[in-house]
Amino acid sequence: MDAFAQASDLSVDGKLYDTDKNLINAHGAGMLYHDGIYYLFGEIKKGTTWRVANQSWEDYRVPAGGISCYSSKDLKNWRYEGVALAPVKGDPKSDIDTGKVIERPKVIYNTKTKQFVMWMHIDAKDYSYSQSGVAVSKTPAGPYHYIKSVKPNGQMSRDMTLFKDDDGKAYLIYSSEQNNTMQVCLLSDDYLHPTKTYSRILINRRREAPALFKNNGKYYLITSDCTGWSANAATYAIADKVLGPYKEYGNPCKGLRANTTFESQSTYVLPLKEKNTYLFMADHWNKTDLEKSDYLWLPLKVENGKVEIINDAKK
Ligand code: DGJ
Repeated sequence: MDAFAQASDLSVDGKLYDTDKNLINAHGAGMLYHDGIYYLFGEIKKGTTWRVANQSWEDYRVPAGGISCYSSKDLKNWRYEGVALAPVKGDPKSDIDTGKVIERPKVIYNTKTKQFVMWMHIDAKDYSYSQSGVAVSKTPAGPYHYIKSVKPNGQMSRDMTLFKDDDGKAYLIYSSEQNNTMQVCLLSDDYLHPTKTYSRILINRRREAPALFKNNGKYYLITSDCTGWSANAATYAIADKVLGPYKEYGNPCKGLRANTTFESQSTYVLPLKEKNTYLFMADHWNKTDLEKSDYLWLPLKVENGKVEIINDAKK
């Protein structure tokens, strides 16, 4: 990976601005590295937050704003590329209507079809729909063309991420089974369909916000607990094979407020040039005013197989 920046220079704790000095609006984000450029994709959160009635949990919402894209050569200066996937207005039957939930977009490139493929969590405002949506584009920043959403192998799919392995195979990793158990599903060669090959992992552990990366031939999966928009302690798990089994190793965070992942929730782990070094990307959710949510980016190190996310903040 051809990152110029050192991990320690990339830390963010709060707001992020683009090169036009506008606030970056890209939550539940993912990163694509393509031809020397980083592309950041995230949920556009805009408008007044309201609480969905008759829900047993704090279901705070803003209208689904679609997916934004920003690009950078150095992971520090971000150029706004526009709306990568626009929501649809006034069509409640559409998966990407503003009344739906469009969360946690992740993009990978398919070298065979020469298409950029975006997967995302698509849901109803009460999270009962539980599907994964897929969209494609011929160019990295989009606009993406939305294809459909699916329940992989008939299974629920909420918080999700996407992982492209060194052999070009890609996997969807998602909270399933009413958020009790995660699943990893191999995608078809064109990355557009779940295959029948899938596994159940972190069984009955109630984990969400998955972020998967590979180090030294092993697969590392960071997840959060299931507490709505409220922060909780992350854990990490390691597997020899991407489909698992995964063994959990506790909280990778060190420092003040490690027990709430520094008041954040994982969304992506980006490999950096420095050996065994990654950028841990997370969201500081502001649940009663979601538009004001911002970001936490911290260096993540793997040392002797152990993951550490260190926050040097003194208060
Ligand atoms: C936690 C998830 O990780 C978020 O992406 C979002 O779905 C919230 N729950 C909704 O409460």
